Amino acid sequence: MDYFAYANGTLNAEDVPLTAIADAVGTPVYVYSRATLERHAQVFRQALSALPNVHIAFAVKSNPNLAVLRVLAKQGYGADVVSEGEMNRALAAGIKPQDIVFSGVGKTRTEMIAAVRAGIGQFNLESEEEGIELAEIAQALRKPAPCALRVNPDVDARTHAKISTGKAENKFGVAYDSAAAIYARLSALPGLDVRGLAVHIGSQITDLEPSREAFVKMGALMELLRGQGHIVTHMDLGGGLGVPYKAGDALPTPEDYGRMVADVAKDWDVTLMFEPGRVISGNSGVLVTEVVRVKRGSGHPWVIVDAAMNDLARPAMYDAWHDFAAVRPTGETFVANIAGPICESSDTFAREREIDVVQRGDLAVFRTAGAYGATMANTYNSRALVPEVMADGDKWALVASRIDPATILEIEQVPDWLG
Ligand code: LLP
Repeated sequence: MDYFAYANGTLNAEDVPLTAIADAVGTPVYVYSRATLERHAQVFRQALSALPNVHIAFAVKSNPNLAVLRVLAKQGYGADVVSEGEMNRALAAGIKPQDIVFSGVGKTRTEMIAAVRAGIGQFNLESEEEGIELAEIAQALRKPAPCALRVNPDVDARTHAKISTGKAENKFGVAYDSAAAIYARLSALPGLDVRGLAVHIGSQITDLEPSREAFVKMGALMELLRGQGHIVTHMDLGGGLGVPYKAGDALPTPEDYGRMVADVAKDWDVTLMFEPGRVISGNSGVLVTEVVRVKRGSGHPWVIVDAAMNDLARPAMYDAWHDFAAVRPTGETFVANIAGPICESSDTFAREREIDVVQRGDLAVFRTAGAYGATMANTYNSRALVPEVMADGDKWALVASRIDPATILEIEQVPDWLG
């Protein structure tokens, strides 16, 4: 459920007509709804309310916009970060250091120093090597680093291969069978406060069985570790819950997910940690675009829009579906392809899809673009970096400015020796 709905024939973000935002800011532009973000944050928390000790860290990678993080900070959310840049955004948004979890296989020495100094709540270690390095840093800084060991449970999340992370062949975490020995060795290192386990098997998960299987395996590992005398007080179950991208798609809900977790983890006696991204931010945003022209094709017509794969990479990267809708629909539909202006065929948003009839100059949206949208944007083909807007009731504000190609050109220079 979201707060993008039609009123008087025009699609609104909360109470703001998208036409007004497009007139003022231009297109393409991402528009977020504060009420939708808040609703998703509350629904997800509520879905876990049967569990006693829960810590929710929003996956900043899904939407790192400062205003978005501020909304979630006010909802009491912590942050799951994967770089110093994300950590600094979370801190700037008012998220407390102790509510920040740092994941990722490639944390650099500089990043680990910054995170230890900042006093973050937990490092999710993805290898023994990383743990040894962090122990040295923490000892030198005389600040013990709270850690969880991320384990690769070798479970297929049954999602797109490029966003699947929990199979043995993936780069993430330590192998399930070596995890207990690594946990023991890392626990013995001065500098580390090894307190738990972490798992994350993938993203846009649409079937709860693989997650259940992974969580059951993590429970067994926790028992084994405790049996060997180790302390396990925290279990981070990651993120990954999918969202419906197509109107009418039936997916497991946060309630279904919460029930499954409660069933598996009821006797664990740990602080359960979660890292939801898409389920919070996905439906909270749309990408508004203008139709440049409609061109005849050998088959169906091509709707050429002013947004491209540099603004919304998901269709090109993962063959992802984003619903497309006119901002002022006429009620008529036609079958068309939708593409952006970039000079490669992967810059295609949809093929042979039944959509609202649109023509040159019309506004339209790609829905469910609040997660992995603006954050994955780039300037390929010397296009602008797309701006972001947040709506709140009948108010709206620019929350990230468009960066023009001219500004990007300013940071480049020709060395003297090129003449
Ligand atoms: N925790 C960890 C350790 C992760 O790697 C991720 C996502 C999350 C949490 C959040 O997952 P979520 O709840 O959002 O599914 N760019 C891709 C998605 C990449 C996901 C990367 N990791 C896409 O557009 O589909």
